Amino acid sequence: MIIAANLKTNFTRKETASYIEEVGKYAQKSAQKVMVFPAMTSLDNYLTPLTIGSQNAYPTLNGAFTGEIGLEQLQEFEIKTILIGHSERRHILGESQAFIAQKFEYFKDQGFEIVYCVGEPKEVREAGSEATLEYIAKQYEGIDTTYDKLIIAYEPVWAIGTGLTPTLKDIETIHAELKKKSTAPLLYGGSVKITNAKDFLALDNVDGVLVGSAALYAEHFCTMIEYADELENENK
Ligand code: PGA
Repeated sequence: MIIAANLKTNFTRKETASYIEEVGKYAQKSAQKVMVFPAMTSLDNYLTPLTIGSQNAYPTLNGAFTGEIGLEQLQEFEIKTILIGHSERRHILGESQAFIAQKFEYFKDQGFEIVYCVGEPKEVREAGSEATLEYIAKQYEGIDTTYDKLIIAYEPVWAIGTGLTPTLKDIETIHAELKKKSTAPLLYGGSVKITNAKDFLALDNVDGVLVGSAALYAEHFCTMIEYADELENENK
């Protein structure tokens, strides 16, 4: 399974280094694929069994894009993994689907492993499951769902950082629908905690989790890795 930590705008370079060391030590003993997405300023050449990815980058080698980083800055640290389409970039930073698709295409052409996020806001969820699936379908526009280095993360916007989550049944239903669109590994994200992670990981069509706030505690994040190992040993 895939256990991924999105550190967002948290931790200094020093704190990130010790976090990566602690999680790395644990992950070494695990059969899971463990990914960490640190803040931009904490990207580095880490000697670690973890997959280190970038939370964002502009679709360019370099150039005049104030405040952004491009391929060149990722290549310096041999970063070959990127998060695209996260709801905070869609909704806070205002990234359009067209721009997200352009970014996807660029990093796909560069052979990056892409964790691509989709998910509906609260009002769409309240409008029902048909509206939810229609909304998410639009987030697949311009995205090559057959790309072999694609990982998809279903993250309902209303569940991110709120402590709210869909029911297990709802996750199962929506993941079954999303699996029809792509056979890529499918993660669940949105208020994943040590109290619910194992239940999510045990579901059909859930191939892992993408964790924000709870992942800031290395110990909690390692517990989630342990859950995945346990489930695999139980032949999930
Ligand atoms: P959360 O964030 O775990 O804090 O809800 C998840 C995410 O944004 O990837």
